[in-house]
Amino acid sequence: MPGLLATLGAQGRPGEVAKVPTNKVIASPLLVLVGLGEEVTPDAVRRAAGNAARAVTNAASVALALPADSPALVRAVVEGWGLGGYSFTTYKSKPGTPTAPAEVVLLTPAARRADVAAAVEPAQVVVDGIAAARDWVNTPPGDLTPPAFADAIGAAVKAANKEARRPVAGSRSTCSTSSVSTSSAVAACSRSGPARPRRRAWSSLTYAPKDAVAHVALVGKGITFDSGGLWIKPAASMATMKEDMAGAAAVVQATIAAARLGLPVRVSAFAALAENMVGAASMRPGDVLTTYAGTTVEVTNTDAEGRLVLADALGRAVERAPDVLVDIATLTGHMVLALGDKMAGVLGDDAVVAEVLAAGEAAGEDAWPMPIPEFYDERIRSSKVADLAQYDGIRWGGGIFAAAFLREFTGGLPWAHLDIAGPTFNKGGANGHLASGATGYGVATLVEVLRARAAPAPSEPS
Ligand code: BES
Ligand code: MN
Ligand code: ZN
Repeated sequence: MPGLLATLGAQGRPGEVAKVPTNKVIASPLLVLVGLGEEVTPDAVRRAAGNAARAVTNAASVALALPADSPALVRAVVEGWGLGGYSFTTYKSKPGTPTAPAEVVLLTPAARRADVAAAVEPAQVVVDGIAAARDWVNTPPGDLTPPAFADAIGAAVKAANKEARRPVAGSRSTCSTSSVSTSSAVAACSRSGPARPRRRAWSSLTYAPKDAVAHVALVGKGITFDSGGLWIKPAASMATMKEDMAGAAAVVQATIAAARLGLPVRVSAFAALAENMVGAASMRPGDVLTTYAGTTVEVTNTDAEGRLVLADALGRAVERAPDVLVDIATLTGHMVLALGDKMAGVLGDDAVVAEVLAAGEAAGEDAWPMPIPEFYDERIRSSKVADLAQYDGIRWGGGIFAAAFLREFTGGLPWAHLDIAGPTFNKGGANGHLASGATGYGVATLVEVLRARAAPAPSEPS
């Protein structure tokens, strides 16, 4: 074997894949070797399993012999294999997708351990949620309009309830300009938005198991296309703006996953759905909008639309009086400048930020804390005509400004905000468990937040 590896030039580095025809030396006709790198970690295993999934193109059965002797590693194999094999072929007239193997066997020396065996099913639930979120984000924005997205959410909930341990209740509200005016303004000129009376632009889900030990509200930005509005984006920045509803996709799929897993945690999820388009009815720089909670906001840049729809959605979430509020949004390019395009920025109350970071760590999604220094309070209040300025034109700290703005709508509840503008969309090629295009970022982290709240650590004896 060492001789064979040397011949192939295989060194076991991350990303390496070598295919070896076995010529019947072993029962399988093909051996696929994937590099793990120096250290066996869940992240390394997830990546390797993802690379393996794309290397196996037409097999009836597959045995996965990756390191899998703990629940975390088993989970990583299941997630990597399931997500690495993801592809979005809905719009290909000849999908040409290789048929998935009928049988996949996960080999582990710890198969008899109950905790190891029990790790498979929940990992598959997370895979399903991420794949579904990717499908929504990858769907062309002309097809996934706000009402179409609301319908898709309703259909997903209905399908999940068939097998969920406990059902999710969905509600799709019509949008009246009086109750959700900032969201309406964002979508005012979109033919599919709430400007047309009775068009749905809201989707909220409630998962309320009887044995809930906590109540979490999730709020997601669901801009199905962000042209920038009258402050139109340069063409290159607009190219992937179908991704701007990824936060909404993540909160919905995390809620569905919680139901399928039967987690004893109440979830109130709000997807703020709208389009940011150009037209005679577009909101204008200088307009003053009144949010759901009654705060007035001066629009200064029509491209900062996410914070407007989120202000309304947070207002609704606060009414449910949750223990904690988590919002997730492809909110600012500033955060991508700050942290790069592979990790989310997390801002908010220290304790909730720490909770989200720990969840991200367990989920294998990179996130990093960012501060909200006190003087941002002045910046968000710098409007001469309204309570708040939507933006103050100062680029520096733009992602922090946005978070400080959102905080105004959290009703003083414990809160964290995830800015996922970077990691939501993979503009490069597939690697590891990530496909090209939508990544489904956030679903796994949110599920982990819910899981942790459902099984609170025993409190210190006082
Ligand atoms: N949807 C964008 C943010 C974004 C950027 C998402 C890159 C994904 C990738 C958001 O609505 C936006 O346009 N933000 C502006 C805010 C600014 C005008 C205050 C930005 O980041 O430039
Ligand atoms: Mn925008
Ligand atoms: Zn946007």
